[in-house]
Amino acid sequence: MYQWSSSLPNADWFAFLVADFFKWRPSEPFDLIFDYTFFCALDPSMRLAWAETVSRLLKPDGELITLIYLVRTESLYASCLLLQ
Ligand SMILES: C[S@@+](CC[C@H](N)C(=O)[O-])C[C@H]1O[C@@H](n2cnc3c(N)ncnc32)[C@H](O)[C@@H]1O
Repeated sequence: MYQWSSSLPNADWFAFLVADFFKWRPSEPFDLIFDYTFFCALDPSMRLAWAETVSRLLKPDGELITLIYLVRTESLYASCLLLQ
């Protein structure tokens, strides 16, 4: 079950959702996804699933912004290729 929070005055502009990123099925894809150190915190074995899930959640012309810690360049490059 999902849990939403709306206690702040400007809550019309955002919402918090507690869910498994890989299993969540929103009603429509997003224009923008901001990944704030999520990808780089995942076990490398999850990177393909991450790329597939981001692709599913984004509109075809959607934008992905990803903030990462340093990872091995070739691993990051492989993940970027998966998104193309
Ligand atoms: C490095 S933290 C970054 C969290 C947040 N962006 C921040 O800066 O505080 C990575 C987060 O991903 C969450 N996480 C890991 N697997 C997840 C999943 N399958 N679905 C949703 N969140 C997950 C972890 O619980 C953790 O809170």
